[in-house]
Amino acid sequence: MNTAAAFADFRTYPLISALTAVHTLADRIQVKWADDRVSPFHHQWLRDNCPCPMCVYTVTREQVLEIVDVAENLKPSDVSVDAEGCLRVDWQDGHLSRFDPGWLRAHAYDDESRAERRASKPKSLLWNSNLTLPVFDYQVLMNDNDALLQWLLAVRDTGLTQVRGVPTEPGSLKLIAQRISFIRESNFGVLFNVQSKADADSNAYTAFNLPLHSDLPTRELQPGLQFLHCLVNDAEGGESIFVDGFAIAEALRDEDPEAFKSLCEIPVEFRNKDRHSDYRCLAPIIALDAFGQVSEIRMANFLRGPFDTSVEQMPALYHAYRRFIAMTREARFRVMTRLNPGEMWCFDNRRTLHARNAFDPATGARHFQGCYVDRDELLSRILVLQR
Ligand code: OGA
Ligand code: ZN
Ligand code: ZN
Repeated sequence: MNTAAAFADFRTYPLISALTAVHTLADRIQVKWADDRVSPFHHQWLRDNCPCPMCVYTVTREQVLEIVDVAENLKPSDVSVDAEGCLRVDWQDGHLSRFDPGWLRAHAYDDESRAERRASKPKSLLWNSNLTLPVFDYQVLMNDNDALLQWLLAVRDTGLTQVRGVPTEPGSLKLIAQRISFIRESNFGVLFNVQSKADADSNAYTAFNLPLHSDLPTRELQPGLQFLHCLVNDAEGGESIFVDGFAIAEALRDEDPEAFKSLCEIPVEFRNKDRHSDYRCLAPIIALDAFGQVSEIRMANFLRGPFDTSVEQMPALYHAYRRFIAMTREARFRVMTRLNPGEMWCFDNRRTLHARNAFDPATGARHFQGCYVDRDELLSRILVLQR
């Protein structure tokens, strides 16, 4: 009797439907569930995913088996549903595998199960100028994991949030960013100070307006989340502006498909250089995922190098680039708010473009602090909080 866990994960898998029958075909088995769904599983797939302690190290729950070490045509000698409701497979070479029905259902790859999984994936909630801004309270987020989860889901799905009640001591944003996970350091520091400085190493550290942009488009991986915390805001001007880059990209796909295609296909170089560093990244402005969905926007006019594309494509690239920027200036997409001391933006830097109006340093001080956390950290924290 194999008493080992019938799945090897740190998550739990609810029993959605019980296994009622199983039969063997030439290269797969087919199970039937209590709700009448039928799911095939290839012999190789089952052997590959055997959760027994010989195939998966129980401490790490990571696989030690490599499927190439098993005969390609290995077949079961017997398959059954055991007394605990697990799928039991006795293999011709003597190995035994047991699969928990909750785990098996969660990984079934019949068309219906896959469509169901795709439909339940989190989707970006696109927004425009009439966004209802998700607002959270610092103290509550610091003390309550349920509130933390709600905040993180809003960051993931809406891509723009505000936190209020953040202490205005410098460095305070570090504590709230670390409620999520590791801060991503850059050449601008673990935390960066957004202040007008005489020896600025970025237009961000002047009093100029900053057009709608993502931060660090000059890196192969743009930071996932950006935090901007207001410590002092006495200067006239300097309002924050945001657009949903995914919403603009989708509108462009609709309204000017050729321009959309150019921005998806023609790489553009972004550069960030100072006396000590020289970062460059060559990539298209709009990235699509494997399903053709917009997954990332890379844009900062002030960090862009000269376009380098074929003579034939150059006019198309300029047309597309101008069209995209023109759209970021359209009122239908824009949200504008002045950030007050103790307030903090947290947004998806690879989706939501941010800008600030010019401010007048002669009218008062302005001091923001910022930092980055990668998207992986956000998604992992959400999954752990949901366990
Ligand atoms: C930045 C930036 C916004 C602001 O530093 O990259 O976008 O409001 N700052 O100063
Ligand atoms: Zn095994
Ligand atoms: Zn910025």
